[in-house]
Amino acid sequence: MLSDKSRPVIEATLPAVGARIQEIAQCFYRHLFTAHPELLDGTFNRGNQADGSQQRALAGSVAAFASALVKTPDRLPENLLIRIAHKHTSLGLRPEQYQIVHDNLMAGIAEVLGDAVTPEVAAAWDEVYWLMAYTLTHVERGLYSARGVTPQTIWRQWEVEKKIQETDDVVTFVVKRVEDHLVKPALPGQYITVQVPLPDGTRQPRQYSLSRADQGDSRQFTVKRVYSAAGKPDGEVSTMLHTGVGVGDVLSISVPFGALVLDDYSGRPMVFISAGIGVTPMAGMLSHLAAAGSHLPIMLLHADHSENAFALRGQIREDIAALPNASIYVWYEQGAESQMPVQGVFPGRMDLSQVRLPENASYHMCGPVPFMHGIRSALIELGVPSRDIQYEVFGPDLWQADYE
Ligand SMILES: Cc1cc2nc3c(=O)[nH]c(=O)nc-3n(C[C@H](O)[C@H](O)[C@H](O)COP(=O)(O)OP(=O)(O)OC[C@H]3O[C@@H](n4cnc5c(N)ncnc54)[C@H](O)[C@@H]3O)c2cc1C
Ligand code: HEM
Repeated sequence: MLSDKSRPVIEATLPAVGARIQEIAQCFYRHLFTAHPELLDGTFNRGNQADGSQQRALAGSVAAFASALVKTPDRLPENLLIRIAHKHTSLGLRPEQYQIVHDNLMAGIAEVLGDAVTPEVAAAWDEVYWLMAYTLTHVERGLYSARGVTPQTIWRQWEVEKKIQETDDVVTFVVKRVEDHLVKPALPGQYITVQVPLPDGTRQPRQYSLSRADQGDSRQFTVKRVYSAAGKPDGEVSTMLHTGVGVGDVLSISVPFGALVLDDYSGRPMVFISAGIGVTPMAGMLSHLAAAGSHLPIMLLHADHSENAFALRGQIREDIAALPNASIYVWYEQGAESQMPVQGVFPGRMDLSQVRLPENASYHMCGPVPFMHGIRSALIELGVPSRDIQYEVFGPDLWQADYE
């Protein structure tokens, strides 16, 4: 709860801090990596730093949290932080690191806002920071303990058993465990973090959704190669996984985390909606439902360039066929042609008015943010409550639809 003393100060300074929060976030990370360069080896994703998306996500979360506290000071908006907590635990963050982030964030605020940061203002923002930090550490402690791990023991060694070329630019890795550690089961929809050693000697972490149901001693994830575009470089880790990692290589992989999780106990119809590589968590959830012999009404709606670009379509076709009440509808930008048995194939972009959605369904979405934004708006227009729409973003969450 935000104190009565801090509330008016936060309210009064929120516009000034909000207007410059991006600059503050940039300054914060500059301070942080100067003081702690080791955080760029295995913890922070330097691609997200280079393109500015992590700075925007941090700034957005602080501003959203502070605004929520001002509006309802008696309630901690802790559900806003769940997604962040999963990302943190998938990287093995430790509670004591919150002090380091605090010191560098406050230094960033002071540097950007200068004399406007009076002791009173600094104390009020300190309070907001620690409310966020305590909430995050509390949720993170719960996530670690539910899996029986500590921040130091989230990493496991897995050997690549199969590398399957799905499409021109997508490969699937099947990895098997090589240690005696107990494998921590994954919930359908979750992701793992893979730490990949790069030629400059640093390790870089990236998240990948599990694209098949939990299989005990083996695990499957599917990676799209990110090619350079518009003057930007090739994706570092996806390129390394495609070109430098093969069968027999050993990867360091976290235990599974992720807030997008299938709830198949609800007994409600399930609608999975994806575009492009966003199909990976949907494939994982479908595979789980097929393995569980689910009789629920299930619908997969998928958009892609063409059928040839549709990753994991072989596995998905088999799972849909195995499920007695499942259907699949596809939209292809290059034309409505399908060799796959589908209930509907349409040209162009996904349009929900072309299908009949089940009543009282729960929705899971993944794909580019503009795609998900459009679909979520269409669903809400159709009367679907926002709590029934879960989504996954393949990067720092700049959308934060749950904050809306
Ligand atoms: C929860 C979650 C689940 C995910 N699941 C999957 C999945 O199942 N399959 C999948 O393929 N991906 C998935 N991703 C995305 C994945 O984690 C990586 O982000 C993706 O593989 C790209 O990583 P990369 O190292 O190849 O690219 P990066 O090197 O991180 O580059 C990312 C982007 O930043 C740009 N960039 C990099 N450096 C610079 C620079 N100096 N200046 C300007 N721009 C720059 C690159 O050009 C590129 O566009 C998931 C992400 C999350 C968060
Ligand atoms: C109150 C404090 C903090 C806030 C508000 C915060 C906020 C965030 C946000 C919004 C994200 C992006 C989540 C997503 O959408 O994927 C994130 C990711 C991350 N955070 Fe934090 N964080 C805090 C503390 C910390 C601490 C103490 C560390 C430890 C060094 C840390 C390290 C990271 C890392 C490594 C990532 C992933 C970055 C990436 O993938 O680019 N954070 N955090």
